[in-house]
Amino acid sequence: PLVPMRLLLDHAAENDYGLAAFNVNNMEQIQAIMEAAEETESPVIIQASRGARKYSQDAYLRHLMLAASELYPNIPMVMHQDHGNSPETCQSAIDNGFTSVMMDGSLQEDGSTPADYDYNVKVTKAVVDSAHSQGVSVEGELGCLGSLESGGGEQEDGHGATGELSHDQLLTDPDEAERFVADTGVDALAVAIGTSHGAYKFTKKPTGDVLDMGRIEEIHKRLPNCHLVMHGSSSVPQELQDIINEFGGEMKQTYGVPVEEIQKGIKHGVRKVNVDTDNRMAMTGAVRKLLMQNPEKFDVRDWMKPARAAMKDVCVARMTAFGQAGNA
Ligand code: G3H
Ligand code: 13P
Ligand code: ZN
Repeated sequence: PLVPMRLLLDHAAENDYGLAAFNVNNMEQIQAIMEAAEETESPVIIQASRGARKYSQDAYLRHLMLAASELYPNIPMVMHQDHGNSPETCQSAIDNGFTSVMMDGSLQEDGSTPADYDYNVKVTKAVVDSAHSQGVSVEGELGCLGSLESGGGEQEDGHGATGELSHDQLLTDPDEAERFVADTGVDALAVAIGTSHGAYKFTKKPTGDVLDMGRIEEIHKRLPNCHLVMHGSSSVPQELQDIINEFGGEMKQTYGVPVEEIQKGIKHGVRKVNVDTDNRMAMTGAVRKLLMQNPEKFDVRDWMKPARAAMKDVCVARMTAFGQAGNA
């Protein structure tokens, strides 16, 4: 059944595990997640960005989610709006059956520049008041991750959407986090602790101090009634880069957040872990490989099937590594 996200995050907190939140845009991605959830007996968080909702159209997405909950009646599922940019976006998600919404007030509505604290509180509090009265959970964000527009990788030089602010100024301040949760009543808070969106997060192999673990720990201590969320948590596995490049792709060498680092984050209180890029890469690699090796094929199912299977493998691996397996 579809449940509010708070329910799953509370259970994860009580039992010390994390939940992957996977982005979707179409039927095959939802199927991949549900197959992985069934195999690993995992509760699931499925999320759609504004771009995903536009691409898939709300009515298709709503019915796909209803189909998933009908096919898997024993798996608790959350449908979450990823990076809602306004109270209107969040309300239209709720009207379409989403059981959780993110009001990302860390940026202005058009996503171009960091927003000030008062704006963030104002829009987030408005969403919390309305969403909670409808039984829907709310995630907020404080601090600045790498830019969504440029595909991430911003945190190394602090430029892009984040302008002239230094690396440290962009990370979430524990005092401010405490105040923000008190001011808004959010169920979950996305924190900036060194990750960025997209494939190009780090240009060198991370050495184990890519996440500001002390900061996670400190924020977690201050927020007994709010769950921490880590965006930009793809690991960008070397083998997926290699498959893409072996079969005609052109990805520059890059490094993501090692799974072991995420596991440390979960030990320090992270409960929701956003993963999109790894699944994109898995599907793209599988399609490239199938079509390069079988240039005579043109049945859509011939390349959709291995793509879906490749995404399922990533989902199984993350569900297992984050500890959500066995908790459905
Ligand atoms: O937060 C970003 C997610 O990876 C979704 O990306 O806005 O291109 O759908 P998108
Ligand atoms: P990745 O780009 O690392 O997969 O992060 C996705 C994300 O944070 C979606 O909100
Ligand atoms: Zn994100």
